Amino acid sequence: MSNIAIIGTGYVGLVTGVVLSEIGNTVTCIDIDENKVRILQRGQSPIYEPGLDELMVKNIDAKRLFFTTNHKEALANSNIIFIAVGTPQSESGAADLTYIKQAAKDIALNIVKDTIVVVKSTVPVGTNDLVESIIKEHLITNRKVDVVSNPEFLREGHAIQDTFYGDRIVIGAENNEAGNTIKKLFKPLNLPIVQTNRRSAEMIKYAANAFLAVKISYINEIANLCEAMDANVLDVAEGMGLDHRIGRAFLNPGLGYGGSCFPKDTEAIAYLGREYCAPLTIVENAIKANFRQREIFLQKVLNYFDGNLEGKIIGMLGLSFKPNTDDLREAPSVYLIEELEKRGAIVKAYDPVVKHLPQCVEHFDEVINNSNIVLLVTEWEEFKSLEIPANKLFDGRYFLKK
Ligand code: UDX
Repeated sequence: MSNIAIIGTGYVGLVTGVVLSEIGNTVTCIDIDENKVRILQRGQSPIYEPGLDELMVKNIDAKRLFFTTNHKEALANSNIIFIAVGTPQSESGAADLTYIKQAAKDIALNIVKDTIVVVKSTVPVGTNDLVESIIKEHLITNRKVDVVSNPEFLREGHAIQDTFYGDRIVIGAENNEAGNTIKKLFKPLNLPIVQTNRRSAEMIKYAANAFLAVKISYINEIANLCEAMDANVLDVAEGMGLDHRIGRAFLNPGLGYGGSCFPKDTEAIAYLGREYCAPLTIVENAIKANFRQREIFLQKVLNYFDGNLEGKIIGMLGLSFKPNTDDLREAPSVYLIEELEKRGAIVKAYDPVVKHLPQCVEHFDEVINNSNIVLLVTEWEEFKSLEIPANKLFDGRYFLKK
């Protein structure tokens, strides 16, 4: 079993750490935020993720899972180090690699034994090479360091399930021995493993996410056409999805994709396409179509009130970017609230998990009974049984529509 350090305790880092400890490794998760580390040490997850707290507590009690702010000690004690820091979107659309570079430097300055560095963060093609060169430049020992790419495919709200029962594990290595060590690390998960060179592994992640985003934008544009031509997009999705070459997954129409990955990763791969003169016109257009989807929905609301929202009370069901998460990043709800309020509307919103926005009310009854119209923005399962008068409902997720 390995001694593993994980840099970054966001979604990816935390879940990876918990899962690797669950399969028997000793894992130390590092974060600079002392308050966050204290919460984690108590076995509390700072993110809403079904099943995560239980596994954290179990592995903390078993003395396999640790949390610390002490970089030095954790990095020195490990033979495998995962980098799982954020790669936010910069102004140009490219991924901002500041935290990745910082992690690489930290590793170089603190390791004392031969180490495999695994890059889990979603990074542009070529970043693993960059990490390797930063480490080599700053290394203060003559220890051997290999850098391996291991992109993450977990979905928020299904993170534990996706990690234990995912479709595949991708490992990108230039050195076979290092690649095989990481392969062995994940062996207990018993999942198909794709071993490639580092650049291909990095590309798999972006290409897969962009493809799924394209699929969503495609069904959304088909949904708009269906609406205009009196066809039922849900039946169309079912009929398309049964063709196993297409598949039913990610053919749910609605307000478009949000969250911390698709919007950022589509922008990042589109940027690479422009940079390397291999334009990704399909992805570029999927991004535009995704944004248009929110605008079209807003326009429907405006049309209903003849363009005048002043003083109108608009109920909103669901705030998170998708069900089973409290994440509001790139959520259509945020855009809609801003646009509606800008035009003088009063928004009352209910979400089963997100409770901190000023628009939030205690109970969904308040949203349904005390508003002029109701927008269904996130398809939380518990909304399925709600009775909302058809003339009042704007179903942004085709969720209550038959
Ligand atoms: C995604 C990828 O699925 C995952 O592999 C990657 O590691 C991170 O990004 P996540 O952002 O957690 O995961 O959510 P996901 O369930 O994939 O949904 C992304 C967005 O697409 C959500 O806004 C969701 O509402 C939307 N979506 C998804 C649709 O609009 N229609 C669909 O059919 C599926």
